[in-house]
Amino acid sequence: PLVSMKDMLNKALQDKYAVGQYNINNLEWTHAILEAAEEEKSPVILGVSEGAARYMGGFNTVVKMVQGLIEDLKITVPVAIHLDHGSSVEKCKAAIDAGFTSVMIDDSHSPIETNIATTKEVVEYAHAKGVSVEAEVGMVGGQEDDVIGDVMYAKLDDCVRIVNETGIDTLAPALGSVHGPYKGEPNLGFKEMEEIRNAVSLPLVLHGGTGIPTNDIKKAISLGTSKINVNTENQISFTKTVREVLNDKQEAYDPRVFLKPGREAIKQTVIGKMREFGSSNQA
Ligand code: G3H
Ligand code: ZN
Repeated sequence: PLVSMKDMLNKALQDKYAVGQYNINNLEWTHAILEAAEEEKSPVILGVSEGAARYMGGFNTVVKMVQGLIEDLKITVPVAIHLDHGSSVEKCKAAIDAGFTSVMIDDSHSPIETNIATTKEVVEYAHAKGVSVEAEVGMVGGQEDDVIGDVMYAKLDDCVRIVNETGIDTLAPALGSVHGPYKGEPNLGFKEMEEIRNAVSLPLVLHGGTGIPTNDIKKAISLGTSKINVNTENQISFTKTVREVLNDKQEAYDPRVFLKPGREAIKQTVIGKMREFGSSNQA
């Protein structure tokens, strides 16, 4: 069933695993991720960037597609539809009105006062409708759709303030992670993560999950990271597989000939992440 992230992530925090947010782009992505979750008996978060929502037609299309798949594929595990990097209060409200069960408001590029004010407005609207809210402090590097940034570490003080002053359900403190592939090994601020962990009691989010070594994933989870976002890795596995099939079968024109193996590649990638994050058999 469709649920917010709140209970999902609090349970993950308590039992020391992380729920993956897997970004969706279309029907194949959504189908693959939901099937992986059901097979693994894992809770799952479908991440929808504003760009991806635009690409799919809009927030309503996304919600109805997800609802349709949940019904047709007989999905029984908890599923959240989450706006990824919501750019404004208005966008968050529109996603909520369309039926999203969770939103991220990302005003991390603004001064902390503004970030807090924006986030608070979203929390008031969202919580009245049982929708969970994620906020970001500091800045994730790299690029994802419209979100481009330089790495800026979250300040401890800002983290404590935004948690206490807004009532968010989960916090993404940027600590050196980047969207897209890493140049070399990622260098995550675990010392800072621990300080934040000790100062706030809510579940933490790690953005830029693609390319982070398993040891770092485990360490982040042990320090209270309960949600890990993965996007690029599924894009890479889908595209690699589709390219191989198209190279092999030059005469193919039925799109299902290459979309189905692409979908299967996403499913296998997601299953691997669920096992690595420890969310398998937690639904
Ligand atoms: O918001 C989505 C993510 O943080 C995904 O990052 O594309 O590096 O996996 P990624
Ligand atoms: Zn992100």
